[in-house]
Amino acid sequence: MSINAGDMNDLVRPDRVHRSLYIEPEIFELEIDRIFGRAWLYVGHESQVPKPGDYITTQLARQPVIMVRHTDGSIRVLHNRCAHHGSMIAGDRCGRVQSVFTCMYHGWTFRTDGSLVGVPVPEDYEGTGFDVRDPRNGLGSVRRVHNYRGFVFASLAEEGPEFTAFAGGALAGFDNMIDRAPDGVEVAGDCYRVVQQSNWKIFLENMFDNVHPRIVHQSSARGAKAAQERYPAGAGNHLCLETFKLLALDQSFMQRLEIENYPWGHSNMTGFVSPRGQDAESIAYEALLRERHGAERAEQILSRNFHHTMIYPGAVLQPSFQQLRIVKPVAVDRTEMDIWVFRLKGAPKIVFQKALSYAIGANSPSNMVSADDFESYYRVHQGLRGPGSEWVVLSRQMGRDLVDNGTVRTRVGSSEASQRNQFKAWQRYMVEEGAAR
Ligand code: FES
Ligand SMILES: [Fe+2]
Repeated sequence: MSINAGDMNDLVRPDRVHRSLYIEPEIFELEIDRIFGRAWLYVGHESQVPKPGDYITTQLARQPVIMVRHTDGSIRVLHNRCAHHGSMIAGDRCGRVQSVFTCMYHGWTFRTDGSLVGVPVPEDYEGTGFDVRDPRNGLGSVRRVHNYRGFVFASLAEEGPEFTAFAGGALAGFDNMIDRAPDGVEVAGDCYRVVQQSNWKIFLENMFDNVHPRIVHQSSARGAKAAQERYPAGAGNHLCLETFKLLALDQSFMQRLEIENYPWGHSNMTGFVSPRGQDAESIAYEALLRERHGAERAEQILSRNFHHTMIYPGAVLQPSFQQLRIVKPVAVDRTEMDIWVFRLKGAPKIVFQKALSYAIGANSPSNMVSADDFESYYRVHQGLRGPGSEWVVLSRQMGRDLVDNGTVRTRVGSSEASQRNQFKAWQRYMVEEGAAR
């Protein structure tokens, strides 16, 4: 398949998209370049690199990167690629260097701002024009890096919208999670890493699909209900069971959810289970927030409940459960996902226990809920490979959403407004502005 902009434009229609968007390797490669090579993507959290020399590694589009704390205290995002023969400098997921990164292949050494310190056998380069001080011989830096209240994002594009203008209304979800923390947030441990056997877009669409839960997750909801009946109330924290049980409720329950959609494909969705507890620890925690922020502001923070916040195309936060899922497409039919859990510093133990219990039950590799979804994604992907039907229909509640200055608000939770909004952004990246690349 050889695709031009006109063809691609025709693949996204107001109420449907063509199946080739999910299965064509050529489209996938263009997405990596035009969407992931350009959007602001999550790199890491500053709590992962508290001291100079601390680093983590990840990948932005096809570029392996290192996020490192430099000696001056700043956070740098460097290309994880030696300027000599290209070897990755850091092979671990995280670590700490005393003062320099040393390439494992021929031993070139680099400071934590990427500049080259030295090479072995320097006399070999005498008279060749090679200069240790030439920045081209250092590790490349990602120039567009933004630290949003501790969350570090980067864009590989030379130019484009500033981070806060790009993320827009979706930042409300990040703000809410951060504001719930009396002393800031920090990453708890390492991430779960799972691989989905399906195209990356199928996962993002599912995040805002409020018709599937009571069908796909029916058996998980039944299991959660049975477990709650078997174990007496108060035996441990059962927020996740409570949540899973609700997944199978009547559709009218899901219809009450609100989804707000913003330019560049982002969305926020309200939560269906309040994270507020009535136990003594939770009551003390709310009192502490009132002390910090005043009663009115604390109530504003505590009464907002976000189930999903998506910064398209790579980050889905669950603010009320303190989880962040990062989407890293590997191939047209393979999507890696890192799942991070955050701790609200200064909050009582129970707040973290709830987050962990949700992570284990809903997001870990052995979970009860995403396993249902992964099977659906796999089946969708397999189904779309055949030419039986050319289109994927996205018209639920089409024309009934409220549009206000670029923001699209759903009237009912089952609307596919987010999915339509995601493909509007897709089209903008791939077609309207894609031609500029
Ligand atoms: S590839 Fe890094 S020193 Fe040769
Ligand atoms: Fe689901």
